[in-house]
Amino acid sequence: MKKRQHQALQIALDGPAGAGKSTVAKIVANRLQLFYVDTGAMYRAIAYKALKKGASMDDEATVSQIAKRTEVVLDHSEARRIWCDGEDVTQEIRCPEVSRAVPVVAAYPKIRERLVELQRMEAKRGGVVMDGRDIGTHVLPEADLKIFLTATPEERAKRRWIELKKAGKDISFQEVAQDMIQRDRVDTEREVSPLKPAKDAIILDTTGLSVEELVAKILVLAEEVIKDDTI
Ligand code: CDP
Repeated sequence: MKKRQHQALQIALDGPAGAGKSTVAKIVANRLQLFYVDTGAMYRAIAYKALKKGASMDDEATVSQIAKRTEVVLDHSEARRIWCDGEDVTQEIRCPEVSRAVPVVAAYPKIRERLVELQRMEAKRGGVVMDGRDIGTHVLPEADLKIFLTATPEERAKRRWIELKKAGKDISFQEVAQDMIQRDRVDTEREVSPLKPAKDAIILDTTGLSVEELVAKILVLAEEVIKDDTI
């Protein structure tokens, strides 16, 4: 893989919903002192805004117009808040309604173009761990380390259901599993930047792995890239 300076190290983490991307991305970013960029949160913020405005998600022109006028800001402090036109939407964007709307919004080319530009700007701040669906294939094609996380649909749905339960959401396991299958289908089948591993990505199956085990595996891979760079 391409050698880079540690400060400019780019780690791309892609994969389907519930594969563990954001949990491990945050820890890896902290350990290596890199920025963490949650690109899914950006798409979620746009979907949240469109829902709030009462737009129909199928109305591409209106939703794209709303996105154009929406300011999305990621906060890089420990709190990792996400702001949408000055409103802290960190909690709101995780609700099932936004999860259902987001793949529709994320398939619109104009919205992707705008957010990808923002994501690349974020990557210019310095070394970064960025998670999403198209980071290795499109947003950061030159990333030093590309990882594609997977896990069985059952395990992914279970993880997400437990997360939602902890957040006090009253939703059945079946509903979470169905929503997830539907979202993965739309993400995989869309024309623009579909969910798929980059040709040079390392595929890691996280089924049955603890967060710490997964973090350890990724840190070993990252250390190899960093070592390469310092020789
Ligand atoms: O946390 P989870 O994996 O469930 O989802 P997320 O990363 O918050 O992403 C939410 C949705 O945003 C995805 O299902 C995609 O529809 C979209 N997304 C995308 O299209 N491209 C990205 N780089 C990131 C997210």
